[in-house]
Amino acid sequence: MSDQAPSDQVPPDQAASDQALSARIPDDHSPLAPTPPPRFTYPVKRTDPLVPADAYAEALREEPVCPITLATGDPAWFVARHQDVRTALSDPRFSREALFRPGAARAQLVEPDPDSMISMDPPRHTQIRKLANRAFSPQRVRRMRPYVEEVAAQLLDAMEAGPPAGDLVEMYGRPLALRVICRILGVPFEDYDKFGAWCDRFFSLTKYPPEELRQADEDMRAYFARLVGHRREEPGDDLISALVRIHDEEGEPSEREIVSLGALLLFAGHDTTVTVLCAGTATLLNNPDQLALLRADPELYPEAVEELARLNVPGGGTAIRITTSDVKLGGTVIPEGSAVLASVGTASRDPEAYPDPDHCVIQREQRTQMAFGQGPHFCIGAGLARLELAIGLRALFERFPRLRLTVPAQQLRWKDFAVLGGLEDMPVAWD
Ligand code: HEM
Repeated sequence: MSDQAPSDQVPPDQAASDQALSARIPDDHSPLAPTPPPRFTYPVKRTDPLVPADAYAEALREEPVCPITLATGDPAWFVARHQDVRTALSDPRFSREALFRPGAARAQLVEPDPDSMISMDPPRHTQIRKLANRAFSPQRVRRMRPYVEEVAAQLLDAMEAGPPAGDLVEMYGRPLALRVICRILGVPFEDYDKFGAWCDRFFSLTKYPPEELRQADEDMRAYFARLVGHRREEPGDDLISALVRIHDEEGEPSEREIVSLGALLLFAGHDTTVTVLCAGTATLLNNPDQLALLRADPELYPEAVEELARLNVPGGGTAIRITTSDVKLGGTVIPEGSAVLASVGTASRDPEAYPDPDHCVIQREQRTQMAFGQGPHFCIGAGLARLELAIGLRALFERFPRLRLTVPAQQLRWKDFAVLGGLEDMPVAWD
């Protein structure tokens, strides 16, 4: 079992969130099937900002399918092993749509969005995903290369022109990833200042009360609805314009689905990349022998991206699934109607899948990759993220060969209580 005191495992703002939770759950909310005592409350706070909490590795060793409590207080099952996570993400008995059944558990205080692709099962999921895929085909992604290189170079020019120190998240990681996804979607990057607060709330587990989440959701939806109107009047070569045209010609997808997809892509499409870019930079700085390999042969960057994504999975898990029947997984029976959190972060450090899993080895022989998920919800932006990361990391280390952290890596601050985690900031210097 985890040896951390329970008080270390709940969000610091738990009192506020308890109050918020009672506001969210209707009186007839019935507890789910009884489970044995929970092993920990998810997410468990990290002790090392660049390493998932020990409690997950202990679960992997001792009880790889175990009962836990979600940040909302709802019960769930934590799935840790690589092969079991693969099953939980691919087997249709683990459903996203069953989240809308009465009494289903919640991972966040915000209600799931039924119009969002991430909340759907096939066949609706397949239809929406096919439309979104137009923007992320390998050819489309390849065509983004010059733009990604140009944006990276501009941001590095701006860093070079100013004082030789700053926050890598705000100066480089976030604007790079946001500019790219804004361009693909047709969202004006100039509205950048709005996105941070919405993104923070979109991925909040229990940090904000429901009223605040509802307000942010309303504002964000109104923004995207206006954007849909603009793209109808002045279409461009972007995904939202393409979806609006399909809607106007065929009646599908609905405008609500376009808005939900836009928001999902805007937030999931940059926050994750920022995390791997910045935490991955810290990993390389902590592993000078691996960085030396990259300096000697920059063609290794794409391989390095696979390893850096494996070690720096944004958040520890995936979106929860609900079982639609009793399912035996890794020898444990998970009852029908249970919430399941398949932890890609833990699976990515399963020694059965990756020998010596906590070490950064950019030329690993193992080619399996779990950081981008598995099955029908496999990351739609994986190709784009790989491109951005390979270009972004190479450009950064080539421009600033003496880049360094200005605080000990242990003092970096990890957002433990956001769905996707991430670094609050990353103070660096260069010369
Ligand atoms: C290093 C960066 C990234 C990582 C590690 C990552 C990881 C993941 C993972 C693990 C999932 C599966 C979630 C689940 O099954 O519950 C996922 C899904 C998704 N990702 Fe990514 N992602 C990254 C970048 C991106 C980018 C750049 C985009 C958009 C352009 C994106 C958009 C999405 C979307 C829309 C889904 C949901 C797909 C669906 O429901 O079918 N991600 N991502």
